[in-house]
Amino acid sequence: MAFGRGKVILLGEHGVVHGRPALAAGIARGVEAHARLGARDELEIDPWTMTVRPGDDGDLPRALAAALGLYATRSPVHVQARVDLPAGAGLGCSAALGVAVIGAVDEAFGIERAPAELAEASLAWERVFHGNPSGVDSAMAALGGVALFRRGEPLEPIAPRTPLRLVVADSGEPSSTKRMVEDVARQRARTPARVDKVFDGIAAIVQNGRLAIEAGDLRALGQLMTLDQALLASIMVSTAKLEEMCAAATEAGALGAKLTGAGGGGCMIALVDSDEAARAVIEALTPLAALCFEAEAGT
Ligand code: MEV
Repeated sequence: MAFGRGKVILLGEHGVVHGRPALAAGIARGVEAHARLGARDELEIDPWTMTVRPGDDGDLPRALAAALGLYATRSPVHVQARVDLPAGAGLGCSAALGVAVIGAVDEAFGIERAPAELAEASLAWERVFHGNPSGVDSAMAALGGVALFRRGEPLEPIAPRTPLRLVVADSGEPSSTKRMVEDVARQRARTPARVDKVFDGIAAIVQNGRLAIEAGDLRALGQLMTLDQALLASIMVSTAKLEEMCAAATEAGALGAKLTGAGGGGCMIALVDSDEAARAVIEALTPLAALCFEAEAGT
């Protein structure tokens, strides 16, 4: 069995596409996959009750073809995947699926790949969906933990001094990472100084966030998350619903809250420091959310 983890971006989305650092964490939910030799290449995805084959129309068949193209010679494989993440919601579902599928095919053919190599290989899959991915989702799907990521560089693991407890809530608004990344790139092409200033601000928040995590200063981390959210809103990747959810979470006792992933919909995260705060934040977000759950960053 191979597993691709879901992920949250604690700080730094969008800037990370343009060479700035990001802080990300794997979560326990993800995608499991098994592969066996079969009559033809196919990928069955539960609970989506979907079977895709290379050569069919659509991103998934194209991603499968790209993944299977990594193997020079092989027999046909049947891959069965079980997805336990909302798709198109900023939790790295496509990267987790790619890592799980390639990991399962590797297992079926007795190929050993280190996690960092698996992350790199799975970018062939991820590019089909996201055009210009920074690679952070694929790295977290394969390696997990809490880490600082910078495009093209090895992942830098970070050891949190205290557990990072998050409430994750899905706004239920569908979002396309590809579209959001393209939209930000268009803003940057039109007004480079403005957008680069925002990215530099986000980069400073990320570096301070790292120190806060290492020092166990959750209050500072929460404030940095809320600041990051304001900068993300300034490049128009937030929505009224995400703003409402972040406000509801902080009013209920979260130390900070922000969207996670590409924005334009999808999920937000709220940092909590006690059972009581977690319960209150879940209670505040549940009526607003399509899905709401607690996750420990890096498990
Ligand atoms: C996606 O989870 C986060 C973005 O920064 C895109 C990327 O890093 O590829 C928006």
